[in-house]
Amino acid sequence: MTAAPLLELRDVRCDFSVERGFLRARRTLRAVDGVSLALRPGETLGIVGESGCGKSTVANLMLGLIRPSAGAVLLSGTPIDRMDRRAVAQRVQPVFQDPYASLNPRKTVRAIVGLPLSVHGAAADPGDAARRVSAMLDMVGLPRHLADSYPGELSGGQRQRVAIARALVLRPNIVVCDEPTSALDVSVQAQILNLLLDLRRELGLAMVFISHNLAVVEHVAQRVAVMYLGRVVEEATAAALFRAARHPYTQALLLSVLTPEPGRGIPDARLGAGFPDPLAPPPGCSFHPRCPLAEARCAATAPALAGRGEGEGTVACHVAGALNSAMP
Ligand SMILES: Nc1ncnc2c1ncn2[C@@H]1O[C@H](COP(=O)(O)OP(=O)(O)O)[C@@H](O)[C@H]1O
Ligand SMILES: [Mg+2]
Repeated sequence: MTAAPLLELRDVRCDFSVERGFLRARRTLRAVDGVSLALRPGETLGIVGESGCGKSTVANLMLGLIRPSAGAVLLSGTPIDRMDRRAVAQRVQPVFQDPYASLNPRKTVRAIVGLPLSVHGAAADPGDAARRVSAMLDMVGLPRHLADSYPGELSGGQRQRVAIARALVLRPNIVVCDEPTSALDVSVQAQILNLLLDLRRELGLAMVFISHNLAVVEHVAQRVAVMYLGRVVEEATAAALFRAARHPYTQALLLSVLTPEPGRGIPDARLGAGFPDPLAPPPGCSFHPRCPLAEARCAATAPALAGRGEGEGTVACHVAGALNSAMP
């Protein structure tokens, strides 16, 4: 038997209760629906999908910030909700999209990066804490003279370096990056991405890398899960996915990566209707109203994840599944 994954989601569901409409009626929004994922030591798992498909909810579940409505989140085989919050934080740390929102504007860089050390009682003494903060700032490429600056005095890229230093100062073995470069200037995005890749190698980190941009995920992930409306619709090694995407949604995402106009999103010609209402997901395969290959059965029953047929991975599609099994 192989060891338990570092981090695992086992058939996880996450419902939110929301108020809807003029009468403010309570409705259940299923943000994550039966998601199973595993992260192994040293691996980077990419998660992609359009805005609203449940990526950040998955990130928050992985960080123990929200509890699943059903299913389990496990850290090295232990349910995360049975672990002490601090024990979780020592192992898994986040880097969020917006360094503006996630850094306390009234604290200096030094205080922000040092805070986890004091909260966790992780430093032997103040001298040790100061040394570890300085080492961390060096590691993320922040000049030491910025240690006494406030977040408002820094550029977007510098702020994200601070957020990364804070995430790593306790030396977690897992980092969950939720759109870590999406709020940054294009010119800075590659720098931050390369920094994360360097740190991953130097520190032997396992990483979950969430992005709506498949091109970014291809660059960093060994394995990729594609989400649509709360579900994983395809999962495969990055190499297999980019060589031969099976799910029509993954194929459409790949096309949008190839779209010459940035920001145009998924080409409408291929996908028709926009993202569906998460409070009223389409029956059957929730992608069927936008799918160029949809057949009658796609509106009737939801396809289960099944082997992609070629090498590793799974896909949830009646049509791609049929293509698959017809192949030698
Ligand atoms: N705290 C919340 N309360 C109610 N609905 C939420 C909450 N967080 C997320 N949602 C809803 O859950 C769905 C998934 O959201 P999210 O995980 O943020 O997606 P993504 O990160 O892929 O954009 C969306 O429909 C969103 O509106
Ligand atoms: Mg998000």
